[in-house]
Amino acid sequence: MTSNQPFVLKWGIISTGRIAMEFVKDLLVDPKTRGTTDVAHKIVAVGSRSVESAQKFITAYAPNESGIKAYGTYNEVYADPDVSAVYIGTPHTLHYENALAALEAGKHVLCEKATTSNAAELKALLKLAKEKKLFFMEALWTRFHPLTLELKRIAEEGTLGDPVVVHADLSADFHIESLPLNHRMLDPKLGGGALLDLGPYPLFWAMLALYEHPSNQNAPPSSIVGSIVKTPITGVDASTSFTLNFTEHLQAQAILSCSMQVPSPNFGATIRYKNGNILVKPPIFRSPAFTVQYYDKPGGDVVREETKSFSYVGGGWHYEADEVARCIRDGKLESSLWGHEKSFIMMEVFDEVRRQGKYYLPEGVEKVDRVQ
Ligand SMILES: NC(=O)c1ccc[n+]([C@@H]2O[C@H](COP(=O)([O-])OP(=O)(O)OC[C@H]3O[C@@H](n4cnc5c(N)ncnc54)[C@H](OP(=O)(O)O)[C@@H]3O)[C@@H](O)[C@H]2O)c1
Repeated sequence: MTSNQPFVLKWGIISTGRIAMEFVKDLLVDPKTRGTTDVAHKIVAVGSRSVESAQKFITAYAPNESGIKAYGTYNEVYADPDVSAVYIGTPHTLHYENALAALEAGKHVLCEKATTSNAAELKALLKLAKEKKLFFMEALWTRFHPLTLELKRIAEEGTLGDPVVVHADLSADFHIESLPLNHRMLDPKLGGGALLDLGPYPLFWAMLALYEHPSNQNAPPSSIVGSIVKTPITGVDASTSFTLNFTEHLQAQAILSCSMQVPSPNFGATIRYKNGNILVKPPIFRSPAFTVQYYDKPGGDVVREETKSFSYVGGGWHYEADEVARCIRDGKLESSLWGHEKSFIMMEVFDEVRRQGKYYLPEGVEKVDRVQ
């Protein structure tokens, strides 16, 4: 291979659900359409609980690709010597066992959010990945969007001052009254509820705006307060709110919420600084635009506003795939943009909110005991 050819990452796909479909469609988007020329992607295998489903998935979403292997078990994907990296798109509470098996088989891993059932499971996975010198990343795709990179640049170049308050919500009406009880949003065995499914996104904006802010000096949240409303249908959380304080180096607070019973409110995410605001347009997992408002003086009037919009070919999942490919090409074990410690803090926050809200997963679901 000559140096001007892209590094091609060979993927194995675990599961054939909705998000696996979105990810696969994006892997097949020509990287040049987003200005990427140094890495590219090849789907080598798809694993499902049935070979028919794997084959149907390939036919439906990769009809023009030749040679993708359809497997009726996930283990066959992990064992396939052609597969370099595994994408895990199963329900949350299966991520641990799927990622564990992939790492044990020597594969790099990109794992959907919420990364695991609890922080202890994630800790065990991260330890194994490091021991085996394999790359591991949570599929927090929003972190890699051009919008996020530009927003972070503006947020941290100094004019806005330190962040003080973040408000963020992600909700959607899943019409849970009509869902089967074993649907992943309702079934406690699958980690059902709003928090683990929708909560990663409001929390992501707090992590970006507060945790990642240079003035915070990488200090984790100093306190976490959570409140959960459970659905009587299965007892999983229907609506959850949680507040994080970052007070070691900032005097900042994030006010976050998610619900699976109503659509998102219009505000998306708002980050309030001493000298202005950043308003992130919904949906906050794939925002199309943000507006920066500048005050004339701290606490003063808005005297200047600038809106930046972003578009690209595809759904936006390919940016995280490019990051994985670059990291693996360069021999990195974690991403510098969305590294292990951020995923771990997120899982610790979810553990704490569930503890305060008395949302316990059924016996045996958490494969590693909670971090004490
Ligand atoms: N990044 C994002 O934008 C995004 C968006 C939505 C969801 N997610 C995350 O992706 C994960 C999956 O969400 P999804 O919406 O794709 O779910 P989904 O449509 O229900 O797909 C999950 C897939 O997992 C496999 N699976 C294995 N055991 C299962 C079980 N006991 N019950 C149900 N499915 C089982 C199935 O594939 P096979 O039958 O082929 O084995 C199923 O199709 C969740 O962790 C979620 O948080 C991420």
